[in-house]
Amino acid sequence: MDETTVHGTVGNHLSYADLTPDLGLKMAAGLDAESIISAVTFSGLRGRGGAGFPTGMKWKFARAESRKPKYIVCNADEGEPGTFKDRLVLTDYFDLVCQGMTIAGKAADSEDGIIYLRAEYSFMRPHLEQILKRRRQEGLLGKNILGNKGFDFDIVIRMGMGAYICGEETALLESLEGHRGEARNRFPFPVQAGYKGLPTVINNVETFAWVPAILEKGPAWFADMGTKKSPGARLFSVSGDCARPGIYEYPFGTPLSRVLQDAGADNPKAVQVGGASGTCVAADGFERTLAFEDLSTGGSIIIFGQNRDMFAIAENFQGFFAEEACGQCVPCRIGNVRLHEAIERMRKNGLSADMERELRQLAATMQTASKCGLGQSSPNAFLSILDSFAGELPQHGNDVKPHSAEARP
Ligand SMILES: Cc1cc2nc3c(=O)[nH]c(=O)nc-3n(C[C@H](O)[C@H](O)[C@H](O)COP(=O)(O)O)c2cc1C
Repeated sequence: MDETTVHGTVGNHLSYADLTPDLGLKMAAGLDAESIISAVTFSGLRGRGGAGFPTGMKWKFARAESRKPKYIVCNADEGEPGTFKDRLVLTDYFDLVCQGMTIAGKAADSEDGIIYLRAEYSFMRPHLEQILKRRRQEGLLGKNILGNKGFDFDIVIRMGMGAYICGEETALLESLEGHRGEARNRFPFPVQAGYKGLPTVINNVETFAWVPAILEKGPAWFADMGTKKSPGARLFSVSGDCARPGIYEYPFGTPLSRVLQDAGADNPKAVQVGGASGTCVAADGFERTLAFEDLSTGGSIIIFGQNRDMFAIAENFQGFFAEEACGQCVPCRIGNVRLHEAIERMRKNGLSADMERELRQLAATMQTASKCGLGQSSPNAFLSILDSFAGELPQHGNDVKPHSAEARP
């Protein structure tokens, strides 16, 4: 591992770090598929890629599909600005990801694993290929895994092409098939018709990496951490204006203030939780908790100090979305450009009440009518910055109205 600092919940290591090599996989080899799915379901594991879909349920749906071959895809696109925890898992704990994917293969009755690796992570490919090779030699991948007849599973690495949209699971599938990265319609869901139209489980890197720990330490160990709706712990990529940026592990339900304290953030002005598509939290929200039912996040926490210009941040994020919108649907393609232009203007000229009403309507249209999560979430940062920091904008003529609940659509 490189310069990234790792901070576990207890001491200085992650829950992952003290597992017995491949014990989770060995245990799974002795279980039938239903028992594996029950254990993952009981643990309450929810996807770590952002949406938090229950992993056991996803695997159960895939198992119920009769068409074959089925695929297990690891989403290693890690494109959300401010997120770098999957990078650590891939470089330092890749065996756990392989175990998790192999166990998912047994659960869903699939023999084919694919890792969709972010283009910018191509530097780690030789290291990952070496581990895959070693695992084949040790009988942990390939035919008759660990000597169990019929337990067959192997993993290939496919490179991403450098587009944010390709982290969205259906655009990822398009990209894997050699097409332009654009979100698909649902239904059907990928578990029904995914890669090449066949049943496909797609999970985040970290989601797979938790599975061996759940089997080795027991689903109850995992379920006892966190909150009722968000069991377990998760990794956070912490960056920005703080003394100790790095990867942190916390149980769900941890207050944001605890993270800020551990990271050495001295009197921050705001924190962006969930990356560019997440929510900007002002100081009065620092006691809110990190959990799907409160501050939901794919694991990114960006800290902003008192000297930061919040609308410069909003403009930066909106510019990113304007660049990265795939262009397929109008609300996202046009909306992000219009919002970006408007933020640029309001930083110079302020914001009238009429303009604010229009922009909030535009944002609501994007959230409701965009085809995929990109456009649905791209106005979040701007809206939350507007809610908390409108007073930082220049005064707008005699029609100044920083913001009001009434103006919301
Ligand atoms: C625009 C966009 C980008 C996304 N990027 C990623 C990503 O880089 N990595 C990831 O795991 N999930 C990403 N997701 C979420 C995936 O679509 C999907 O929910 C996830 O891979 C499912 O795995 P999980 O259930 O383990 O979280 C993205 C979603 C959207 C809308």
